[in-house]
Amino acid sequence: MSQPISTVAFIGLGVMGYPMAGHLARAGLTVRVYNRTAAKGEAWAAEHGGSHHPTPREAAEGADLVLVCVGNDDDVRQVTTGEDGALSGMTEGSLLVDHTTASADLAEELDAACRERGIGFVDAPVSGGQQGAENGALTVMCGGSEANFARAEPVLAHYSRAVTLMGPAGSGQLTKMVNQICIAGLVQGLAEGLHFAEQAGLDQQRVVEVISQGAAGSWQMENRHQTMIRDEYEHGFAVDWMRKDLGICLEQARRLQARLPVTALVDQFYADVQVMGGSRWDTSSLLRRLRAFGKA
Ligand SMILES: NC(=O)c1ccc[n+]([C@@H]2O[C@H](COP(=O)([O-])OP(=O)(O)OC[C@H]3O[C@@H](n4cnc5c(N)ncnc54)[C@H](OP(=O)(O)O)[C@@H]3O)[C@@H](O)[C@H]2O)c1
Repeated sequence: MSQPISTVAFIGLGVMGYPMAGHLARAGLTVRVYNRTAAKGEAWAAEHGGSHHPTPREAAEGADLVLVCVGNDDDVRQVTTGEDGALSGMTEGSLLVDHTTASADLAEELDAACRERGIGFVDAPVSGGQQGAENGALTVMCGGSEANFARAEPVLAHYSRAVTLMGPAGSGQLTKMVNQICIAGLVQGLAEGLHFAEQAGLDQQRVVEVISQGAAGSWQMENRHQTMIRDEYEHGFAVDWMRKDLGICLEQARRLQARLPVTALVDQFYADVQVMGGSRWDTSSLLRRLRAFGKA
């Protein structure tokens, strides 16, 4: 019988990790944090009363569960299996959960590294953005064994509205890829619709009010149309992160022999946005790319 989880470590206090770790502290868990830029770890501990540590290894010491939310595959390797990584501080019977959006290969690699040490592993990428993290309303897609999932789920529920086991290690990441594939074409469609409405001289706001009630409605339309109309993109989910995600999707698709023509095209549109200086703009900035062409 594994012990109930009372002490957790949270590694990576970015846009997502900072509020996620906050929900755990508010739920009464003992939270030990690590952040590469130490000032953020200090600020988090001052705000939430947990402890901050200089390395992932030290943060992980004594934790029943270690949660990670950093950037990409290599960043996860650095903070887990790398020098002074979390695994070197974790004990047999503890559990590692990775919230980073990363490859399914990495999930399988970490699952194997954890097994060797008698540690459980769950890949658990999230959807719902900064707003979802702050409001405790994320959707979490998990890969791992039923036993490991059952241990992690009550903790993840503190910042989520849905936590679902999709299959063995890697299945969470594969599901997140489906999520990003669906979003890529959708955001481009929304950008084209708003661009067309503008060129046609329609009141874009009124157009959205009408069509969002019908079959064209979407989360992106609901949550992004106002800032898109105002041409504001200094918020939300960064284009650089989306290109990282689409790169993972396209590489996986190549190996699966799945065809993703629209996803590949939209990835190139995001490369244009990066050239326009939009690496940190929200993904809805595809509209600014269309506007840049202007009228012929
Ligand atoms: N933002 C969203 O809307 C959203 C939504 C769903 C999923 N995600 C995914 O969630 C993950 C985190 O996103 P985010 O928006 O929170 O990113 P972020 O604000 O850029 O934060 C990234 C965090 O990871 C840390 N980090 C990065 N590389 C590291 C390394 N090599 N070693 C140690 N720490 C490292 C950063 O430390 P420093 O503070 O030192 O830079 C920071 O704490 C990404 O995989 C992203 O794709 C994001």
